[in-house]
Amino acid sequence: MSNPNRRPILAGNWKMHLTLAEGLALATEIRNRCGRFRQADVVLAPVSLALLSIVERLADSNVAVAAQNCHAAAKGAFTGEVSPVQLRDLGVRYVILGHSERRQFFGENDEGVGKKGRSTVDAGLIPILCVGESLAEREAGRTLEVVTRQLDGALALLLPEEVGGVVLAYEPVWAIGTGRTATPAQAQETHAAIRRRVASTHGEDAAKNVRIQYGGSVKPDNIAELMAEADIDGALVGGASLDADSFVNIVTRAVHASGLE
Ligand code: 13P
Repeated sequence: MSNPNRRPILAGNWKMHLTLAEGLALATEIRNRCGRFRQADVVLAPVSLALLSIVERLADSNVAVAAQNCHAAAKGAFTGEVSPVQLRDLGVRYVILGHSERRQFFGENDEGVGKKGRSTVDAGLIPILCVGESLAEREAGRTLEVVTRQLDGALALLLPEEVGGVVLAYEPVWAIGTGRTATPAQAQETHAAIRRRVASTHGEDAAKNVRIQYGGSVKPDNIAELMAEADIDGALVGGASLDADSFVNIVTRAVHASGLE
């Protein structure tokens, strides 16, 4: 079972889906149905256009809001970008960084993710730092090499005492949106390796406290077995977070599987 000292964290990454009205309706239903889960962190990541409205809708609730990306600078001449300081100003609490879709389609690299990680922590936000290998990398036996490189880049500019407060997300690219979930044993193996690496780069306390989410085709029917693993502290959910019933079920079963209910 996941370590009871680490609060489960379940996040819905809505990616580039939903109109404002649809997002508000979904956020409202999730807020109403997840209100009783004080033992877990529940986070929704809408498109940036909807952030302010969703933050306002979720005010005074136990559901927090994440951005899906941000720029590394606090401000400046960066047309089209959004800064971590501006996100914090809106009431956003988390930022997903280095998602594989951003690495794949928008040229994000390990060094850039590290810079963004630093500036989000400086702005008082919690980064959700994503790592994960492609199918070709897994088949070539390079999973741990790739994940370690991405992890080192993501944490490069953070101090040991800061790392315990961030969130990591292991999302194997071959499991994202494919319906092909990593088995709990596959996920646990990589999560344990990530935690060992954090211990060697940032110390035992950081490794003990840092929460590591699994992402990639998480559904109500596989969340419990994933959460039963020692180093899986939550989930970053894509497709199944776009439906209130399935996301609320994921949260409910994760809390239950963690022995918190
Ligand atoms: P799916 O849950 O749709 O596979 O997406 C996972 C993901 O990319 C979350 O960030």
